Amino acid sequence: MQATESEIEYAALALMQGELVAFPTETVYGLGADAASTTAVEKIYSAKGRPSNHPVIVHVAKAEDIEHWCRDIPSQAWLLAQAFWPGPLTMILKRHHDVDASVSGGQDTIGVRCPSHPVAHALLTKFAHLKAAAGQVRAGVAAPSANRFGRVSPTQADHVCREFAELVRTGMPVLEGGDSEVGIESTIVDLSNIQNSGTVALLRPGAISSDDVAAVLGCDVTGQTAQSPRVSGSLKAHYAPTTPVTVCDDGNLQACVRRWLDTNNGSVAVVCRQDMVFKSDRVQQVLMPETPAAYARALYATLRRIDDLGVAAVIAEQVPNEVVWAGVRDRLSRAAAAFEGDSSPS
Ligand code: TXA
Ligand code: MG
Repeated sequence: MQATESEIEYAALALMQGELVAFPTETVYGLGADAASTTAVEKIYSAKGRPSNHPVIVHVAKAEDIEHWCRDIPSQAWLLAQAFWPGPLTMILKRHHDVDASVSGGQDTIGVRCPSHPVAHALLTKFAHLKAAAGQVRAGVAAPSANRFGRVSPTQADHVCREFAELVRTGMPVLEGGDSEVGIESTIVDLSNIQNSGTVALLRPGAISSDDVAAVLGCDVTGQTAQSPRVSGSLKAHYAPTTPVTVCDDGNLQACVRRWLDTNNGSVAVVCRQDMVFKSDRVQQVLMPETPAAYARALYATLRRIDDLGVAAVIAEQVPNEVVWAGVRDRLSRAAAAFEGDSSPS
């Protein structure tokens, strides 16, 4: 289930014409546009309903291409590129002076990533060839996750088609690439302060852990700092399904579920990693994989499936407080935060 060469070529031509294209990556599906065209990038913002001060990531075919998008690239960026690209890592670097600020939400920095999915790679390579033939060196595809602002990211082409039905109906290409292998968005590492303060900050956890990054760089990786750029993925509430989610944090899932049943009407979906002894006809158990990689791969499709079940709420069992689970923990807590008072994305 992969897009054909001619479908990829057609999509690359659409990008050249300033149109939107949805394409698979190993993390989640992206909604792409020519990153060098302000009007094309604006189409992403309006399709997603995303505020224009939220930066998007520029995807490139090969690591060297970041020189067209970034300035003062530190040696640490090349080390990380060598270790993790192509792959699920985004680096925040200083933006090249010739690159319009619209792609980075007006900030002086820019997010760059070289994805490994073969369809993404083929699309980016084809696009770069077309750009070169037109005498332009700066070939990159700006792409946020292909979901409406604040919603769950898509991990299948079908999710994209449902999210953007109108755009698809009017001809937007959606390249097929099967289920996204990683399943949650890329790890984001901020290297834009490294020359001044020596700090490397993890802005969004993902499949590549802060320990993985620290091991390559031989330095500490901090959380977000006051100097860190804004990240919409770091809004407390993000990645939310439609059905209200709570995370059961106290280690006693059965008690959480019983409490819910005692105080609510209707039925509840319980997302857990082991079969619950407790059964009720108002409880739909959703069993998740045991390992963090497999859990992440299944998470978003599961949340979308639960939305279709028509249950009143979701209770998710907390996952271990370990570095390897940080990405999943983060997405679960953001899904839950969307339903806690006034914390929804603005
Ligand atoms: O895995 C991924 O990263 C996917 C695929 C399609 O590559 N993309 C993705 O994009 O998750 P998006 O826009 O949904 O999330 C990108 C995050 C946002 O939180 C954005 O704020 C942050 O990256 N970001 C992008 N450029 C930035 C910059 N210059 N400074 C700070 N944060 C930036
Ligand atoms: Mg997103």
